Amino acid sequence: MITAILIILILIAVIKILTIYIIFADDIKTIKERDPAAKSALEVVLLYTGLHALVVYRMSHQLWAWKVPFLPRWLSQVGRFWTGIEIHPGAQIGKSFFIDHGTGVVVGETAIIGDNVLLYQGVTLGGTGKETGKRHPTLGNNVVVGAGAKILGNITIGDNSYIGANAVVIKNVPANSTVVGIPGRITKQDGRRIDMELAHMQVSDPVMENMSKLLGRIKTLEAKTGCEAPKGENDVDFTI
Ligand SMILES: CC(C)(COP(=O)(O)OP(=O)(O)OC[C@H]1O[C@@H](n2cnc3c(N)ncnc32)[C@H](O)[C@@H]1OP(=O)(O)O)[C@@H](O)C(=O)NCCC(=O)NCCS
Repeated sequence: MITAILIILILIAVIKILTIYIIFADDIKTIKERDPAAKSALEVVLLYTGLHALVVYRMSHQLWAWKVPFLPRWLSQVGRFWTGIEIHPGAQIGKSFFIDHGTGVVVGETAIIGDNVLLYQGVTLGGTGKETGKRHPTLGNNVVVGAGAKILGNITIGDNSYIGANAVVIKNVPANSTVVGIPGRITKQDGRRIDMELAHMQVSDPVMENMSKLLGRIKTLEAKTGCEAPKGENDVDFTI
């Protein structure tokens, strides 16, 4: 009896693995290409929580599209319990999507993700808390989002862009850009470095702007009162 149950369980597991292997062949190939640590398809199917989360997402998204009540959200929460990755069933995700390491990734209901996108652990594609309707980001094709980065609000990240680890992005990012820091600043575009001091339109930072204004007022006061700071103390640099 026990042997029969064991054989049935093994058969179910084999069928499950084969089904995932066939249906998610593209995603498995992508993981093998993008992660040098992935040695075989079997390893990817059994060990990669990013793939497990994607399998759960694809099922819950289909149920969501069929307007089945409750079940899609429930499935998505089960997926979160097992993988630490929460993808809302309403999110739209393209082909060859890969979440590396996984834990702590959150993808919101109205997020749209293009093809060939890579997210590392701790990434949030979330809302700012102030918007309704389409309130989560749209990521173009071939976007890479570094560990811990947060992309917030109904903004667009252009194709082929890199979002640096731990960046917080709250404004649109043009295609072919690299963004780092809080708030996110474009440091490279179309392969060229962007001079942060000259790119204030793209990288406005309210703290830096106010500090610059204060410095200007101090300098004016010093000039008016004739009481200048000792040499060297005026050379304040507010660029981050
Ligand atoms: C942003 C990133 C893609 C690098 O892009 P790059 O074009 O090669 O950038 P560079 O290394 O030339 O760095 C450009 C500048 O940004 C800074 N920078 C790079 N990454 C940064 C980050 N995540 N946060 C803040 N600043 C960063 C660099 O120090 C450099 O500053 P400098 O011009 O003052 O010297 C990369 O650093 C990154 O964050 N990748 C994410 C990887 C990841 O999450 N891995 C997890 C594996 S488990």
